[in-house]
Amino acid sequence: MMRYTGLIENYKDRLPVSESTRIISLGEGNTPLIRLDNIPREMGKAVDIYVKYEGLNPTGSFKDRGMTMAVTKAVEAGSKAIICASTGNTSASAAAYAARAGIKAFVLIPEGKIALGKLAQAMIHGAVIIQIKGNFDDGMRLVKEVADHAPVSIVNSINPYRLQGQKTAAFEIIEELGFAPDYHCLPVGNAGNISAHWMGYTEYKEYGKVNNTPKMLGYQAAGAAPFIKGSMIDDPDTIATAIRIGHPQSWDLAWNVQKESGGWFDSLTDEEILAAQKLLTEKEGIFCEPASAASIAGAMRDIKSGKIEEGSKVVCTLTGHGLKDPDTAISQCKDEMININPVMDEVRDAILNNM
Ligand code: F0G
Repeated sequence: MMRYTGLIENYKDRLPVSESTRIISLGEGNTPLIRLDNIPREMGKAVDIYVKYEGLNPTGSFKDRGMTMAVTKAVEAGSKAIICASTGNTSASAAAYAARAGIKAFVLIPEGKIALGKLAQAMIHGAVIIQIKGNFDDGMRLVKEVADHAPVSIVNSINPYRLQGQKTAAFEIIEELGFAPDYHCLPVGNAGNISAHWMGYTEYKEYGKVNNTPKMLGYQAAGAAPFIKGSMIDDPDTIATAIRIGHPQSWDLAWNVQKESGGWFDSLTDEEILAAQKLLTEKEGIFCEPASAASIAGAMRDIKSGKIEEGSKVVCTLTGHGLKDPDTAISQCKDEMININPVMDEVRDAILNNM
């Protein structure tokens, strides 16, 4: 049996690398596709829902798929430093892959608006953290400007190698199921990932691996929903900080995906997003971060309304691990904790009263 050594090695005939390319990998990709059990049954709807648990990538998000490609190509081009703006996960991934490559990472993050786990990752991997008094969109604008004035390679999803790496998630889904799903649901921020998935699905169809492609469904947070508004937003806000983005970088690409695939965009309130996150943890044992739960929240709403028909096969991408944002998780449940004295009677009562 061959040891799994990451997605570039696995798909090197479909990625822009050569035999001499030094691959920078942490064993990313090959994530579980888990079929939901309790949630569809309790909804009383005959749909197959699978979640692609991208939180199990090396740094806990799908960003690693793109980052292995972006950093591999930056190193191949002789770059000694990478830079990104980030709502958190890209910075964590860039920091880790830069460490692996032995190059420098500069990350611009919005002050006070990145989840604790992501900040810890960027810091411990030794990235230079530049906190800005502004949001992700400000950071992205600055990164594009500064790249003309300093020797740094941009590893945001405007770097085409990022999407090349991320398209492999669609390959894995097709190989595992033996077909493409009817619907693929994703949370949308910059819309790079939904565009990358569509590339992957269409590529495998053209290649003759499947004869169908899914309708692509993109879900945004209500306070950060430029695709629903139909124009950019200047003050995005949501508890799902990963997708707190008002000026998506892959705007045109994503509208093409919607048209070509026959899918749609929709938005979810923060309450709906958090409720879906909790439902998935309590009913299925799967912990994703708030932004990721937008895909499940959206899918459930559209299944209930019949927009997604019974008999459909649905894949939802869980983009990031729940441990990325411990504060939001704890704040949802802390009233449920039982506090007692260290005596057996009180432990027993706590058990018997809560059976
Ligand atoms: N889910 C999570 C957990 C994310 O971190 C992101 C993006 C998305 C969904 C949206 O993906 O931008 O391709 O539409 N996070 C970026 C970051 C912006 O900086 O980590 P998208």
